[in-house]
Amino acid sequence: MVGTWLPCPCDGSDRLDEEGMGTSETPPRAANCKGRTVMGETVLEVRNLRTYVYLRRGVVRAVDGVSFAVQQGETLGIVGESGSGKSMTLLSIMGMVPKPGGRIVGGEILFEGENLLEKSPEEIRRLRGNRIAMILQDTLASLNPALRIGQQVAEPLQVHLGMRGARARERVVELLRQVQISDPERRLDAYPHQMSGGMRQRVVGAMGIACSPSVLLADEPTTSLDVTVQAQYLRLLKDIQQETNLALIFVTHDLGIVAKICDRVGVMYAGRLVESASTRDLLSRPMHPYTMALLRCLPKLQARGHKLATIEGQPPDLAHLPAGCAFGPRCPTRRARCQEDRPELKELFPGHSVACWYAENRFRADAAVHDGNAEGSAQ
Ligand SMILES: Nc1ncnc2c1ncn2[C@@H]1O[C@H](COP(=O)(O)OP(=O)(O)O)[C@@H](O)[C@H]1O
Ligand SMILES: [Mg+2]
Repeated sequence: MVGTWLPCPCDGSDRLDEEGMGTSETPPRAANCKGRTVMGETVLEVRNLRTYVYLRRGVVRAVDGVSFAVQQGETLGIVGESGSGKSMTLLSIMGMVPKPGGRIVGGEILFEGENLLEKSPEEIRRLRGNRIAMILQDTLASLNPALRIGQQVAEPLQVHLGMRGARARERVVELLRQVQISDPERRLDAYPHQMSGGMRQRVVGAMGIACSPSVLLADEPTTSLDVTVQAQYLRLLKDIQQETNLALIFVTHDLGIVAKICDRVGVMYAGRLVESASTRDLLSRPMHPYTMALLRCLPKLQARGHKLATIEGQPPDLAHLPAGCAFGPRCPTRRARCQEDRPELKELFPGHSVACWYAENRFRADAAVHDGNAEGSAQ
């Protein structure tokens, strides 16, 4: 990965300074930093969530005991390979688990302290798109091709805030301007197909923030964008977060994006979190073999001529999980126990949890090497 970890002068937290802007005169400012982020109370907490899909060929354990919390102003990244249950986790929070077959079978989803799973469909409808919003993976699927952009961005305003006519139009223009769509008055009448992918993504972003939600769930919103548009969009999301102090959950398979924008990260594998830590800890001191493997797969600009690393094998079929650790069959460090018992997520040191029987040994060995080096250099 290009860049160095530097303490950001705004809030003291470490962020990746990709552009190497820091000098001895000017304190280093993280590339993505726009000012102080105020972390606040826990807005959303997911406890032991289990969402299964009942199919003829078996029960797909898409989300199988996931827990995490996110605070105001915080960005939580969820990473993992395709099929690991990331989208299903977000859809569960939104009350949009695919039917027929999909069902939340256990756990709690606490939004501002209240369990969403105990609310009526009508109460959930009132929250969805209003206090909790989601940007879907596929922008074409989330925009109606037959409706003008202006009408679509106005919809959440009408439904949740009862805003109509000139007032709604004014707010739509303001939102389009906020997501940096140039000449918004003219764009109101455009149809989705008349816009580029990057612009459509911004429109979907505008719909997401229309009612000033407390929580924004973003499901791989930049996957289909080219890198420069992607960088602009990420910056935009962070700017919006800065202004509104919303809690952002950002799902991606790209650890490079996580490094840029997330405060904390959860790594998902086969419907479970296998590691959870601050972004800095996770990237500099990964403790789960799956996280380590994901990090090895990141392309490095310096390593020309080397073959790109991949993770051997395939993720398991979630309807027929292996006994023991789900990553076991692909794990280069597996031992007999890994094939028999499933490890639970366990806090190894404050704020860093890992689901691996041997993480603690690895951690101690690392620490011993570290201490040895420190002693050596002190002599
Ligand atoms: N509508 C559906 N019907 C059946 N299985 C589904 C459906 N949606 C998702 N799944 C299954 O749930 C699991 C998790 O999927 P998903 O949450 O979409 O993964 P991710 O977002 O991490 O790629 C996968 O095994 C997938 O096949
Ligand atoms: Mg997905």
